[in-house]
Amino acid sequence: MSGNPVNTLSRRTFLARSSLLAAAAVWPVVGWNAQLLPRRPIPGTGEDLPVIGLGSTKAVMQLATEGTAGLEAVLQSLLDAGGSVIDTWSRDPALDALAGEVFRKNNRLGSLFLATKVDTEGVEAGRAMIDANERNFGKAADLIQVFSMRDIGNQWPLLREMKDQGRTRYIGITVASESAHGDMLQFMQKERPDFIQINYSLAESNAEREVLPYARDNGIAVIINRPFMNGDYFPKVQGHSLPDWAAEFDCASWAQFALKFILANPAVTCVLTETTKPEHLQDNLAAAEGRLPDAPARLRMQEEIRSL
Ligand SMILES: NC(=O)c1ccc[n+]([C@@H]2O[C@H](COP(=O)([O-])OP(=O)(O)OC[C@H]3O[C@@H](n4cnc5c(N)ncnc54)[C@H](OP(=O)(O)O)[C@@H]3O)[C@@H](O)[C@H]2O)c1
Repeated sequence: MSGNPVNTLSRRTFLARSSLLAAAAVWPVVGWNAQLLPRRPIPGTGEDLPVIGLGSTKAVMQLATEGTAGLEAVLQSLLDAGGSVIDTWSRDPALDALAGEVFRKNNRLGSLFLATKVDTEGVEAGRAMIDANERNFGKAADLIQVFSMRDIGNQWPLLREMKDQGRTRYIGITVASESAHGDMLQFMQKERPDFIQINYSLAESNAEREVLPYARDNGIAVIINRPFMNGDYFPKVQGHSLPDWAAEFDCASWAQFALKFILANPAVTCVLTETTKPEHLQDNLAAAEGRLPDAPARLRMQEEIRSL
C-alpha cells in the first residue's frame, strides 16, 4: 500500500462536507468544533488544541533564500484543515520579523496558537528575547517554553513572572533528546509546567516509559517534537511498501504510520511536524483521520521499523 495524500485529503473534505455527525463517528475526536482536525484538551482548562501542529523552523529559515511563498503555503494548509498550533524557533530576529508578516497577513494571527521559546542565558537576555518575539510576531505568545531547559534556573522564574503578568497564558519546557528525559521528569515533579515538549517517535520511544504517563496523571499538556527524527525516518522507509495491516488503522502513507503511532498515546496533546511542503503537511494532517493503532499494533509497528 502506498500513501496518496491527495486522495486522503479529498476523503477528509468529503467527510466534513457530507455529514459532520457521520465523520465524528469515525474520528477519535475529543472535541469536534466543526473543524477538520480532531482536538484534544489542555488539561485543567476549557481549551483544546488540534492534534497536528507545525514546527516552523525549516520554513522560517527558508525565508532567507526563497521568500515567503513556502511558509505562506504550509501555514494556509494548516489553517484550512482547522489547525492552529505553530512552534517557532529561528535564532534570527530578522527572519522572525518576516515570519511575523506572514502570520499577520489576512488576519491569520487571531487563529494561531503561537508557541515561542526563550533560548538564552540570564534574566535580562530572556526578557529581551520575549519582547523581541512579541514585536516580531505581532502578539504575545500563547505558550512560552524554555528551549531545551537552557538556563532553567533563571528562565523559569521569568516565565512564571510573564504568566503572572498575563503576558502569556501557558508556560513550559522543551527537550529533544532522550538523554534529557530524566531532567525533564524531575522538573515536572518539582514545578508542574502547563506544557512539556518532548521527542517521541517510532525510533525514539523512551518518553512513553515515565514522562508521558507522569504528564497524563498530573494534568500536563504534551507537545511532541521530532516525530520523523528530523527527517531521518524517510530514507529508512524509502523503497519499502507499507504493510497491508496498516489499513487496519486507516494508515495510507509512511508519514501517517509514524504519526499514528504517536497519536495513539493518550498523553499526547499535539504533534509538531516540520515541513516546507504543503503536500507533506496534508499527508501529515491526514494521520489524524480514522482509527489509531492499539497496543499490539503499536509494538508491531516498532518491529516493522526495526526490521527495515
Ligand atoms: N529543543 C526543542 O525545543 C526542539 C528540538 C527539535 C525540534 N523542535 C520542534 O519540533 C519540530 C519538528 O521536529 P523536527 O525538527 O525534528 O522535524 P520532524 O518533523 O521530525 O522532521 C522534519 C523533516 O521531515 C520532512 N517531512 C515532514 N513531513 C514529511 C512527509 N509527509 N513526507 C516526507 N517528508 C516529510 C521535512 O522535509 P520537507 O520540508 O521536505 O517536508 C523535514 O526535513 C521543529 O520544527 C521544532 O518546532 C523543538
